[in-house]
Amino acid sequence: MNVIVVPDYEQLSLHAAEAVAAEIRARARTVLGLPTGNTPKGMYRELVRMHQAGELDFSGVVTFNLDEYWGLSPDHPMSFAYYMRTHLVDHVNIPPGQAHWPQSQGDQDAACRAYEEQIRAAGGLDLVVLGIGNNGHIGFNEPGTPFDSRTHVVRLAEETRLANFRGYGFPDLDAVPKFGISMGIATIMSARRVLLLASGREKATAVARTVAGPVTEQVPASILQRHPDATIIVDEEAAFALASREA
Ligand code: GLP
Repeated sequence: MNVIVVPDYEQLSLHAAEAVAAEIRARARTVLGLPTGNTPKGMYRELVRMHQAGELDFSGVVTFNLDEYWGLSPDHPMSFAYYMRTHLVDHVNIPPGQAHWPQSQGDQDAACRAYEEQIRAAGGLDLVVLGIGNNGHIGFNEPGTPFDSRTHVVRLAEETRLANFRGYGFPDLDAVPKFGISMGIATIMSARRVLLLASGREKATAVARTVAGPVTEQVPASILQRHPDATIIVDEEAAFALASREA
């Protein structure tokens, strides 16, 4: 796993946006798996800036959100679909129909199968960008998720619900859904490239376990050690617990 340590969140956002832009410019059509959360907001801001400055064309970009709360409609202001429109899709020229998020209501098995089929039909994922939970989760793949999992519905860990309540502006903990739908670990690992972003001291333990700990289903992100082209960009605070820091 390639580890890049940058001084701060601003640099992390610029590095991440540049990496995504390079993928978009490298081919006529680029299929991206994209995260929500607070970490990638700066990256999206920079990608939107690039587009508005005429530096980046999204017409050949196809996106798939990593995950979604089960039960929230895509129009719900706390949904990840809403987040994605607000932070990226509404501000760039991704053609209608090329931005995807998992179905989050109705028949769960059908929703999971349909999402995998959409990704397959798009030609597979060129690049997946990930955030990381304090417990090492990627997407909504909580500790214990099998490494061979595909898109699935998951019961959210209580610490994840608490982190989402604190971080995302839910009015109270009860308002945070108890389930999510997420690309599986195997779906993420099938991407040609993976880029994981981590910022802040509270991610330091998860980062150290991801980079230097044993590969275990108890730390979902640790599987990235086995990906042929995985990069993790961390700021100094998130790199705090790494034994050796690379520039
Ligand atoms: C959430 C999301 C993840 C995200 C993670 C970290 O629960 N499901 O996809 O990467 O937690 O979020 P943040 O970047 O806000 O710390």
